[in-house]
Amino acid sequence: MDYLEIQGGNRLHGTVTIDGAKNAALPLIAATILAQTPVTIDNLPRVNDIFTMLRLLENLGSTYTFEGNSATIDATTIDNTTAIYDIVRKMRASILTLGPLLARFGICKVSLPGGCAIGQRPIDLHLKALEMMGAEIEIKEGYVIATAPDGLKGATIVFDKITVTGTENIVMAAALAEGKTHIINAAKEPEVVQLCEIIRDAGIKIEGIGSDELVIHGSGGELIDIRHITVIPDRIEAGTYLCAGAITNSSITLEKVNHAHLVSIILKLQEMGYDFEIEKERITIKPASRIKPVRISTSEYPGFPTDMQAQFMALALIAEGTSTIEERLFENRFMHVSELNRMGAKITLNNHIATVEGNAELYGADVMATDLRASSALVLAGLIAKGTTRVHRIYHLDRGYVKLEKKLQKLGAKIERLKE
Ligand code: UD1
Repeated sequence: MDYLEIQGGNRLHGTVTIDGAKNAALPLIAATILAQTPVTIDNLPRVNDIFTMLRLLENLGSTYTFEGNSATIDATTIDNTTAIYDIVRKMRASILTLGPLLARFGICKVSLPGGCAIGQRPIDLHLKALEMMGAEIEIKEGYVIATAPDGLKGATIVFDKITVTGTENIVMAAALAEGKTHIINAAKEPEVVQLCEIIRDAGIKIEGIGSDELVIHGSGGELIDIRHITVIPDRIEAGTYLCAGAITNSSITLEKVNHAHLVSIILKLQEMGYDFEIEKERITIKPASRIKPVRISTSEYPGFPTDMQAQFMALALIAEGTSTIEERLFENRFMHVSELNRMGAKITLNNHIATVEGNAELYGADVMATDLRASSALVLAGLIAKGTTRVHRIYHLDRGYVKLEKKLQKLGAKIERLKE
């Protein structure tokens, strides 16, 4: 197994290019199931979750090529509608095949994803919404078995909680359903917006894109005309590199970003004392003269993203004072706390609120990555710790960050990928 070895204490400088958004690409790959022709997707990040999704579609009978950052997927040849446990267990987002498979074939079987490190993460809202659209759903032997022999029908759906992949699943299902689907309390994340825009450009009328109410006028079963997609920049990868610049109090420039998607992250960094230079598709973070503590509460977009909570916790360790970080979306997303404390941090937890003491003296240690974003927080802490930090189980990182160590090396960090 690979691990990362980091020698802390270097300032960073230079430029880093941000890849396409994994969380935008995953539903877009699933959406190729709805397409009447092969689809080319550009700016696709070469990370393990993307390979898993491509393999899942291949297992269903699709073919694909993936060269550089461009994949062409032909899902017209799908002849199997069972998403098997062996692939789904590797990545919860496999559930994104449920909506499009059911809408196209009227029957499918998708393994239940199960819990994960950050919480239970049920899919009850996806299932309830599909039932509202006329699906019959049974859970049997670890699988969701869904049928809609006469096709899905438009319905009014009110999500009890805002769910990103839930909204995406229902948007895809509604694209081929008969009649109008009205989604109330929809997610508004940029990744959801891109999916809606692609489906709209493929000929499906969608009202309310970017708002919490969507109305989708389904095709009544006819496949749609998706041809070419360019994935939006990864706002979480960008936010992570901004934190790398911030924690080392360095000036670095990010290229190929969409700063409109980064507003809540940039505002928090400004509150902490950092300056920015923002140009078209580029952002430069400038050092702070004094790093102030922060109060963060995670929420749905456009609020502060839960996927940036761990990285900001690492950053709060160097603030001049005590910060508080509240996690409102996932019940167990604090696994990085004990690992950071092993590096000398003083973070206490009270239910879903972490109190982070600033002015921390961190020292290198062997630490364990527990989930994708928690892993990047440990790398960030390693960048400023005295001595050597080894971050183990980095297969979590490889799910979502393109060549993290190479990009950090280019910025001047001392970081290496080694084998256990
Ligand atoms: C997506 C992102 C993930 C991000 C999260 C929140 C992808 C592939 N993943 O995950 O990186 O951290 O949004 O921004 O895009 N819930 C239910 N029942 C459901 C569905 C969700 O109770 O049927 C709950 C979840 O447990 C959680 C909350 O709703 O507490 C939000 O989850 P959701 O938005 O669905 O997260 P994901 O789409 O899984």
